[in-house]
Amino acid sequence: MTVLENENHEPSTVSVIGLGQLGTRLAQAFLGAGHVTTVWNRSAAKADALVAQGAVRADTVEAALAASPLVVVCLPDYATVEDLLGPVADGLRGRVLVNLTSGTPQDAAAMADRAAAHGAGYLDGAAMSGTRLVGRPEALFVFSGSRDAFGTQQEVLASLGNAVYLGTSPTLAPVYDTALFGLVWGALAGFYHSVALVGAADVDPTAFAAVAQGHMPFVTSLMVEHARQIEDGGFPDDDGTVEVHRAAMEHLVHTSRAQGIGTDVPDLFQSLLKRAVAGGHGQSGIASVAATIAKGEQNV
Ligand SMILES: NC(=O)c1ccc[n+]([C@@H]2O[C@H](COP(=O)([O-])OP(=O)(O)OC[C@H]3O[C@@H](n4cnc5c(N)ncnc54)[C@H](OP(=O)(O)O)[C@@H]3O)[C@@H](O)[C@H]2O)c1
Repeated sequence: MTVLENENHEPSTVSVIGLGQLGTRLAQAFLGAGHVTTVWNRSAAKADALVAQGAVRADTVEAALAASPLVVVCLPDYATVEDLLGPVADGLRGRVLVNLTSGTPQDAAAMADRAAAHGAGYLDGAAMSGTRLVGRPEALFVFSGSRDAFGTQQEVLASLGNAVYLGTSPTLAPVYDTALFGLVWGALAGFYHSVALVGAADVDPTAFAAVAQGHMPFVTSLMVEHARQIEDGGFPDDDGTVEVHRAAMEHLVHTSRAQGIGTDVPDLFQSLLKRAVAGGHGQSGIASVAATIAKGEQNV
C-alpha cells in the first residue's frame, strides 16, 4: 500500500469517506483547521474541489483507511457503510472509526461491535447543526463510544465545531440525535405557527423573529428549571398550572381559527395539556406534561 501524504510530505491526520453535502463540509473543516486530510468518494469527481484546496485523494477505500489514524465516514445509511467497509474491514485495525451517518441506536450498537471485532476504536456521532455552520465553534457534534478514541482524537474532531462526548455507549449519539431533532422541530413548529398568526395581522416574519429571538433565553431557562423538576418528580406551579395553560391554549386555538390559519400546532399542544389533566395533573406545573408523555399514549 502506498503511503499517502500531502505535497509537503506530511502524513495524513484524517480520512473522510463519503463526500456528499455533509462529508464535503467535514473535509473542508479539517483542512481549514490545518489537518492533512485524505478524501475518498464513490464518484471521484466530487473530490476534485477538495484536492484543489489541499486534500489528498485516495483512489480506493482501502487506501483511505490506510492513510490516517482517524477515519470519518459519512454515507446515507449504515447498510451502505457496512457494504463499503465490510470487505476491507481489516484495514480498520488500530484506527479510530467515527461514523457520522444517521441511523438508529441498534445500527450504532451493531457497528460498534463490528468495529471492535476488527480492532478499531469506534465513535458514533451526529452532526446537529446542518452543513453551513460546520467548522464553526457553534456547530454541535455529538459523539459516543470509546472514551479512549474520543480522548485521542478530540482535538481533531474539535475542528468540526463543538464536539461533545456523551459517554461510552455508542447508542447515545443516535438517541441524542433524534431527541435534539425533535426538540428543534418542536421549537420551529411553534415558530412557524406564530409567524402565520402575526402574519395574519400584517406583521413581517423578520420583525417578529427579532422579538421572538429576544424571548428565547426565557424559554431555555424554563428547560433548565423544568429538567430539575422532572428529575425530582415534583411540579410546582410557579409557571402556571396545566389547567391555566390549557385554558390559555384554547385562546390560541380560537384566535388562530378566527384569523383563518391552521390550528395543527396549538391542537397538538392542547391535546398534550388535556392528557395531562386526564392523568390528574390539572393543578400541577406544566413540566408534568413530560411525565404524561413518558407514560405513553395508553397509560394515562
Ligand atoms: N446534509 C445534512 O445537512 C446532514 C446533516 C446531519 C446529518 N446528515 C447525515 O449525513 C449522512 C450523509 O448525508 P449527506 O447530506 O451528505 O448525503 P448526500 O449529499 O446525499 O451524499 C451521500 C454520499 O454517500 C455516497 N454514497 C451513496 N451511496 C453510496 C454507495 N452505495 N457506495 C459508496 N458511496 C455512496 C455518495 O456518493 P456519490 O457522490 O458517488 O453519489 C455521497 O458521497 C446522512 O446519514 C445524513 O442523514 C446530513
